[in-house]
Amino acid sequence: MGQLYVMNHPLILHKLSIIREKDTSVKEFREIISEIASLMCYEATRDLPVEDVVIETPLAKATVKRLAGKKLAIVPILRAGLGMVDGVIELIPNAKIGHIGLYRDPETLMPVEYYCKLPNDIGERDVFVLDPMLATGGSAEAAITFIKQRGCRSIRLMNIIAAPEGVKKIQEAHPDVDIYTAALDDCLNDHGYIVPGLGDAGDRIFGTK
Ligand code: PRP
Ligand code: URA
Repeated sequence: MGQLYVMNHPLILHKLSIIREKDTSVKEFREIISEIASLMCYEATRDLPVEDVVIETPLAKATVKRLAGKKLAIVPILRAGLGMVDGVIELIPNAKIGHIGLYRDPETLMPVEYYCKLPNDIGERDVFVLDPMLATGGSAEAAITFIKQRGCRSIRLMNIIAAPEGVKKIQEAHPDVDIYTAALDDCLNDHGYIVPGLGDAGDRIFGTK
């Protein structure tokens, strides 16, 4: 079964407390989503391979560590996943970026696909799927299935808030995928919203409500 990593860091907890508040402005919400994504990326890339290289400092030759040229890709789930892209790209600027457009049908809560554009060589890359909210898990499950259909075998999921229901769904459907989340909340309400959560992440990032 995939691992669930819940960030338990004072900076992340503090930032989360601000974006959960209903009166936080769109500007601040967007900035903090990006900052949390950056801090989480630091953790989610902890096991990337490094290799020895010899360089010259102003004083001497030194053997130092560098990333071992692993090919990376990030795939935000539209729309809300876009809010995490800048924060992640700041730390891994050479990653390619794919996009998967999914929205959740408000009646059935099932994901509906409307866009998919992935790097041609996605199958050779380590992929980080980004979406602030893991609620029923339907959207992330579908996105990971698309990516696997393109030959990718190394996928991690990064969320800001996850519900137990979504975690269970991903762990059952994709047991090879590790989940990184800033918080694991209590449950879903009758409309599939995470409680206590932060509301509709897409609307709060883009100011559409
Ligand atoms: C939200 C969120 C996830 C999905 C989570 O997107 O960003 O993609 O819901 O719910 P699930 O785990 O039950 O599938 P939404 O469908 O509201 O679309 P948006 O990003 O365009 O606002
Ligand atoms: N999508 C959101 O944006 N928020 C939730 O709580 C659940 C799904």
